[in-house]
Amino acid sequence: DLSVRVGDLRLKNPVVLASGTCGYGRELAKFINLKMVGAITVKGLSMEPWQGNPPPRIHEVYAGILNSIGLENKGLESFLREDLPFFETIETPLFVNIWGKNVKEYVLLARNLDAVERVTAIELNLSCPNVEKGGVSFALQEKVFEELVGRVRHSFTRKIIVKLGPQIFDLEKAIQILEREGIDFVSATNSFPGLAVNVDEQRFVFSRKVAGFSGPAIKPLALKLVYDIVSVTRLPVIGMGGIVCWRDALEFLLIGARAIGLGTVNLIYPDAAQRILKGIEEYLDQKGISSLEAIIGKVR
Ligand code: DHB
Repeated sequence: DLSVRVGDLRLKNPVVLASGTCGYGRELAKFINLKMVGAITVKGLSMEPWQGNPPPRIHEVYAGILNSIGLENKGLESFLREDLPFFETIETPLFVNIWGKNVKEYVLLARNLDAVERVTAIELNLSCPNVEKGGVSFALQEKVFEELVGRVRHSFTRKIIVKLGPQIFDLEKAIQILEREGIDFVSATNSFPGLAVNVDEQRFVFSRKVAGFSGPAIKPLALKLVYDIVSVTRLPVIGMGGIVCWRDALEFLLIGARAIGLGTVNLIYPDAAQRILKGIEEYLDQKGISSLEAIIGKVR
């Protein structure tokens, strides 16, 4: 039995497709059966369509990728019109990642999505390293963080996930705020801020200099951040960062993540979710364990 409890939400299995790499859902449906994952997270939406950053947007390095997409998305209305109908044809829990340029925009997104019953949870992206205004700045100032989280909580009646990254004003204080305000789950980690230099042209690769670093290289860093989070909270945590294979996924589950996210790996092995689920199943069989729940948080 691979099902997991994430708070009072039950997922058929712990594999969550993370925001950003599975587009608006249908894109990845060409490669995997979306009915078999635990939940799907739709790429960060804003109220209005958003163009994102100029190219180059992706730069590969040995054990990961740097990206500077700049939160490009089609806007809430187009998503609801063009993509939501697809989700009405499957039952997989749907998480919608959202971002705004200010607190008001997060609130507006939350209100609009509250009316869309199909949306299981909203995930607040407070940690994107790639934008001029907003993005990670919401996680760097305690007062803004608190106001944003509190006001969104009052605007959305179902589950709220707050996505954290390595840049945060104070991890313990931030978690206390999430608990106090009644946030349901934490997801971590977002990408790490990274830099790349084009030595031939003697300039930065990305026009904004900084880019989000993800992929297998960040796994130990992500695992440490997730461990630090589960150590200070009873809020369920969706752990992610550099997961490529079932062993990686188990590391996060063993230290106490209640579900795991797949991001960059979807770009490299679009069938990763399937392979990872199979690997976890075989691991449990081999160990003679009947339920995945039994090993969550076993390594303390
Ligand atoms: C974006 C990139 C990221 O690496 C991330 O973690 C969040 C958002 C982006 O530029 O869209």
